[in-house]
Amino acid sequence: MSSQIGNKLKVSVFGESHGTAIGAVIDGFPAGVKIDTDQLLAFMKRRTPGRDKTATPRKEDDLPTILSGVLDDVTCGTPIAAQIANKDQHSKDYKNVAAVARPGHADYTGFVRYGGHNDVRGGGHFSARLTAPLVFAGGLCLQYLAQRGIYIGAHLASVADQKDASYDSVDLTAEALLAPGKKNFPVIDDESESRMRDVIEAARLDADSVGGVVEVGVIGLPAGIGSPIFDTIEGRLAYGYYGIPAVKGVEFGAGFDVSLMRGSENNDEFYMAEDGSVKTRTNNHGGVLGGISSGMPVTARLAFKPTPSIGKPQKSIDYRKNEDANMGVKGRHDPCVAVRAVPVVEAVTAIIIMDMLLEQEGR
Ligand SMILES: Cc1cc2nc3c(=O)[nH]c(=O)nc-3n(C[C@H](O)[C@H](O)[C@H](O)COP(=O)(O)O)c2cc1C
Repeated sequence: MSSQIGNKLKVSVFGESHGTAIGAVIDGFPAGVKIDTDQLLAFMKRRTPGRDKTATPRKEDDLPTILSGVLDDVTCGTPIAAQIANKDQHSKDYKNVAAVARPGHADYTGFVRYGGHNDVRGGGHFSARLTAPLVFAGGLCLQYLAQRGIYIGAHLASVADQKDASYDSVDLTAEALLAPGKKNFPVIDDESESRMRDVIEAARLDADSVGGVVEVGVIGLPAGIGSPIFDTIEGRLAYGYYGIPAVKGVEFGAGFDVSLMRGSENNDEFYMAEDGSVKTRTNNHGGVLGGISSGMPVTARLAFKPTPSIGKPQKSIDYRKNEDANMGVKGRHDPCVAVRAVPVVEAVTAIIIMDMLLEQEGR
């Protein structure tokens, strides 16, 4: 199965960007969990396009129709299925990409993989539109986890060379973690918003795009979750993160910077906290040691590449004719995908963490 993730909590995503509908089936979600629908819709809204100039003008309200598994706002324990209608398709914009591969996009590899039978309209199943059902599923998981005192939040850590402040990875409160997600532009330091917007707008006006980094944190996760060698928290999260379109790098804790430190700097010294719990004074390990949660905040950073579809002319190939071709993408695209990716990162983190918890608890 290519579009399914999870062992105990299985999330399956279906659909194509310009098909009738997209959706998700979630199997293994515990019974009796109260769902706050308004909160779920508000979370999904954070991902929707067409809200401002940093995103594609494609307008989709992304209202999910829950087909099964939830009755009177309480989960039944049976598979939860939801579908989201595609309404604002402009398939004709893609006529010239039917055979000319967009550099940086999946047109060429998708053609080879599926022998030319995949739906290429709007990127088909490769489209980031498929992150809407992921956000639906993740939104439910976030609510389940919050009911257990586990909170997940993310923010836009940088756009091109413009940086936001970082989360405090040692004393991370739920308030600080969730604050960026309550804003229209998900940053910690409001001063960084205008710098980031400027760099995105400059790229957009230049028919180009920019990349960015999303930082995510998990708090309240008890120590002891995760299993070596391959079912580590890092391994499982990274597996999920690379399912998000345009993710090209993932690091945990101090990440690549660990290679610059000495052991004495990188090691996070343990101490006994007043509440009797074991804590560390620093958190270069990003809440994971030996693949197992330490009880400290889990922190990760994801690098998003610049949007592949750009108006600037670029050289490419016609993969049906096997000849060189020129490309200049028409249609509507996000000049910086990292902005809308913030809730997607929260959603995928929630799906994976909930799956690992349920699995380990044998539920
Ligand atoms: C929230 C989000 C929105 C995106 N919007 C676009 C877009 O408008 N145009 C585009 O070409 N790519 C967009 N992408 C990225 C492509 O879907 C992605 O680069 C493509 O499927 C190839 O996959 P890869 O980059 O993981 O190799 C978006 C990604 C995300 C996460």
